[in-house]
Amino acid sequence: MKAMVFRGPNRRSWEDVPDPVVVAPTDAVVRVTAATICGTDLHILNGDVPEVEPGRVLGHEAVGVVESVGAAVTSIKPGDRVLVSCISGCGRCEYCRTGASGQCRGGGGWLLGHLVDGTHAEYVRVPFADFSTHRLPDEVTDGDAVMLSDILPTAYEVGVLNGRVRPGQAVVVVGAGPIGLAAIETARLFSPGLIVAVDLAKPRLEAAKRFGADVTVHADEDVDDLVADLTGGLGADLAIEAVGVPETFELCARLIRPGGRVANVGVHGGPVTLHLERLWIRNATITTGLVDTYSTPMLLRMLAAGRLEATGFATHHFALDEMALAYDTFARSAETGALKVVLTR
Ligand SMILES: NC(=O)c1ccc[n+]([C@@H]2O[C@H](COP(=O)([O-])OP(=O)(O)OC[C@H]3O[C@@H](n4cnc5c(N)ncnc54)[C@H](O)[C@@H]3O)[C@@H](O)[C@H]2O)c1
Ligand SMILES: [Zn+2]
Ligand SMILES: [Zn+2]
Repeated sequence: MKAMVFRGPNRRSWEDVPDPVVVAPTDAVVRVTAATICGTDLHILNGDVPEVEPGRVLGHEAVGVVESVGAAVTSIKPGDRVLVSCISGCGRCEYCRTGASGQCRGGGGWLLGHLVDGTHAEYVRVPFADFSTHRLPDEVTDGDAVMLSDILPTAYEVGVLNGRVRPGQAVVVVGAGPIGLAAIETARLFSPGLIVAVDLAKPRLEAAKRFGADVTVHADEDVDDLVADLTGGLGADLAIEAVGVPETFELCARLIRPGGRVANVGVHGGPVTLHLERLWIRNATITTGLVDTYSTPMLLRMLAAGRLEATGFATHHFALDEMALAYDTFARSAETGALKVVLTR
């Protein structure tokens, strides 16, 4: 089969590799029918995720049709159309059993495109298939469902639920990439009174408006003053960090009111200053985390019921064998305006 292979920092190739087969009895092999690329795949290509070894097939987001299953797999069968989750939890360890599969201690966690071959290929071996795939109802398209592999559960769990959005509250989302936009969309499920989106890129701020931000602001403007003005001088109840650099984390920590929360979603590659000298007296809560994907079944029901919109994330469509072009388009998002690029066959 063809697959997008990581060949070391800044080197990738769409090349022939052996077809995956069932190895463990809990595996499934899925024929990929839709895939999308994540900012994290670009981090890997930049060499920021050293545990990814050269030769690894990239990708952790996909939808497909089950080709074969191991003897222990009971909830899906060949021919089923399934969502492949970015997290493959064993389902049995203490973390998985309490909804924290991102921290799986039974050999699972973030495996695909990281520690095992991923989804940017014609076929993918999915470990712990009973626990890490979801059968798709007919009314949900491949292109919509693939937004549930990673971005929607990540934004919802690590941003909105960790951040405890409540009706009427003031929420600031810093970073309006796919994750920030998904945070805006899923924060609205709790009817906040105000959503402010902050980004450096104009097209991203326009997208934030479409996804439901009330106010958008360029990061070069005086964001602190604007948020103070909009909240009667108090600051935000919640600031969601969806970038992953020190400036944006520190901005979030400044923007919250006494008793407020910072929910960090961004993947940080270096240390960040925590201004505890200012925060200690303000009853601040800071949360961080890797997505667990415990919310995926609920988000899938919302999508099937038409209560969640996923089509708006996809800005570019490619055939699966145009993978190299899709990577190029996604990597140059500042010029191309790409949010999510969707590959189908
Ligand atoms: N915690 C998790 O489980 C998890 C899962 C997936 C992704 N992530 C991380 O979430 C973050 C966002 O992901 P994404 O796919 O939306 O990334 P992205 O790169 O597409 O979006 C980031 C956005 O931040 C904006 N930005 C950059 N610098 C800024 C600044 N100084 N001020 C304001 N905005 C700025 C960019 O213009 C861009 O629109 C990344 O760090 C990603 O690695 C975390
Ligand atoms: Zn991802
Ligand atoms: Zn586990």
